[in-house]
Amino acid sequence: MDLRLFPRAEAHGKTIVLGEHSVVYGMPALAAGLPRGIELRARPLPDPRQPSTLRIPAWSLDIPLVVESEHPVARAALEVLGHCDGPLTGWAIEGDAALPAGAGLGSSAALTVALARLVLGPEADVEAVVAASLAGERIFHGEPSGIDSQVAARGGLLRFVRGQEPTPVPLAGPLSLLVVPSGVERRTAEQVARVRSRHDRFPSLARPLLDVLGRAVDEGIAALRARDHAALGEIMQLCHGVLAAFGVSSPVLDAMCSTALRHGALGAKLTGAGGGGCILVLPGPDPQPLVDAFVAQGHAPLLVELTP
Ligand code: MEV
Repeated sequence: MDLRLFPRAEAHGKTIVLGEHSVVYGMPALAAGLPRGIELRARPLPDPRQPSTLRIPAWSLDIPLVVESEHPVARAALEVLGHCDGPLTGWAIEGDAALPAGAGLGSSAALTVALARLVLGPEADVEAVVAASLAGERIFHGEPSGIDSQVAARGGLLRFVRGQEPTPVPLAGPLSLLVVPSGVERRTAEQVARVRSRHDRFPSLARPLLDVLGRAVDEGIAALRARDHAALGEIMQLCHGVLAAFGVSSPVLDAMCSTALRHGALGAKLTGAGGGGCILVLPGPDPQPLVDAFVAQGHAPLLVELTP
């Protein structure tokens, strides 16, 4: 049993470009790693029997990692450390997070991936890191598809199907995306349950809609390959409508998408679980008017530049 932690570890945030929710039902999804996610640092406490602590000031988080804790982050963190046969006591872990928590940008997956890397080290096999992250993610989200953990561990632009190794999607040219947090927190598990309930009540209506979300992924990848951003924008629009039909959009998210379209976006949709969290905007050639419009409304948009 390895009773030490590596001094530092990192993980990416994520934004789902296409295929959220349908990915839970075995369909593909397309997601991008955010260059900045979380960095954790670990130092040994004087007494190795002392409870470990986890402090992430950006998330107002400062908790002891003790087995009796009912705090989901403490439970998830201990689950990850235990899964990797890491030390359960005797360490102070501190984090700098560039992501808001609970905003649909994969904060919990980034945390659990970085925790796994504190035990397994920077050279660890990605699948071992993802498996450990998922042990923690199940505490937060029930039965996640695994897309958040894969993107948190790997970064880049990935096509993902549940239970399979994701494939990197090569870009034919640079791609700018604007991620705009709504400021409304939500729980992924509740949004997944909302889709599940509609799916179970009206399977003959829900299945074709989920199919549309899944098929949009390969249509979107084809549009990216052809550098046809206008087509990708239209596909994003279509998917926002379908996600809204499942009840996971909200008046705030719909209004934000309208703002984006009014200021030159080629497409805009909710990203991640919905209900709050973020929208994802595909800017036209000049993203600045969009950025300015969201800043004027009190949002803090994040411009993500993906390069081939
Ligand atoms: C959450 O980031 C994405 C969902 O598809 C849930 C999942 O994949 O586990 C809504």
